[in-house]
Amino acid sequence: MGQFDNKTVIVTGGALGIGGAASLAFAREGANVTVMDLNRDAGEATVAKITSNGGKGLFVEADAGTSAGCRKTVDETVDAFGGLNIVFNNVGIQPPSSYMNAVDLPEEMWDRIIDVNLKSRFLMAKYSIPHMRKAGGGVIVSSASVQGLQSMPGVSAYAASKGGDLSLMRQLSLDFAADNIRVLAVNPGTIDTPMVRNATEAVGDDISVALSSYGKDHPLGRVGKPEEIAEVVLFLASDRASFMTGESVTVDGGMMAKGAWAGGAGAGID
Ligand SMILES: NC(=O)c1ccc[n+]([C@@H]2O[C@H](COP(=O)([O-])OP(=O)(O)OC[C@H]3O[C@@H](n4cnc5c(N)ncnc54)[C@H](O)[C@@H]3O)[C@@H](O)[C@H]2O)c1
Repeated sequence: MGQFDNKTVIVTGGALGIGGAASLAFAREGANVTVMDLNRDAGEATVAKITSNGGKGLFVEADAGTSAGCRKTVDETVDAFGGLNIVFNNVGIQPPSSYMNAVDLPEEMWDRIIDVNLKSRFLMAKYSIPHMRKAGGGVIVSSASVQGLQSMPGVSAYAASKGGDLSLMRQLSLDFAADNIRVLAVNPGTIDTPMVRNATEAVGDDISVALSSYGKDHPLGRVGKPEEIAEVVLFLASDRASFMTGESVTVDGGMMAKGAWAGGAGAGID
């Protein structure tokens, strides 16, 4: 018996990184999993892994930053599996070419980041919630970020999208509590995914040196693994978190616990 037997889950950006780990973990626990992604090869490979392990998966090639992509993902999921119970709004982009302040950031780049990272949350809610209501309830979980809580210079659109994600999560939790729909988010610290590796490569840094350096910003002394975020997402989506809604859980190896005035891991302790 899996903890998500007879449940249907959509994972947006479900092919790689945190979404890929969550797709596999939900399927391992018995869920029917729709992997929605722009990357056909990677999405089909993730679904092949799910089915070769005896699970049920569906790949939907769609752009989460569009209304048509989100609607198609929900429609094809309901057609394939007969309903919808859980949405993991994982998709997110932070192109290295967007690292600039608001004066320099092209408006089109702002729009694209907000569409994929934030508007997709609204669109997935819009199209999913009617099916969750039919099922008597549901759960929506977002990948927000520690960058929705604090920030750094040069990431105006990404930081705004993540702060907006957390605010929309709270709003949806209020609007749909009476429908027995819980709405939550995770705030990952730095996680070893293609997003982080591609950004590191784009600035010409050595990946293992960079990951080890990013790890030092986290009191646990390392970056996280996609599976460590997926496990928390599964907990939030499960009945074990049945009294949780309107809240985010920070999964960052202790990074947000550390003040900007503090030194590296263990500083000042002897
Ligand atoms: N990796 C980190 O350090 C980190 C930290 C905090 C928050 N997050 C957030 O976690 C989420 C996942 O991050 P990740 O690092 O696993 O990302 P990733 O780039 O490694 O993987 C993202 C997946 O989404 C897909 N995708 C991208 N744009 C899409 C679109 N428009 N429509 C459909 N699919 C699309 C990609 O093909 C890929 O499979 C994002 O929301 C990100 O902002 C990541």
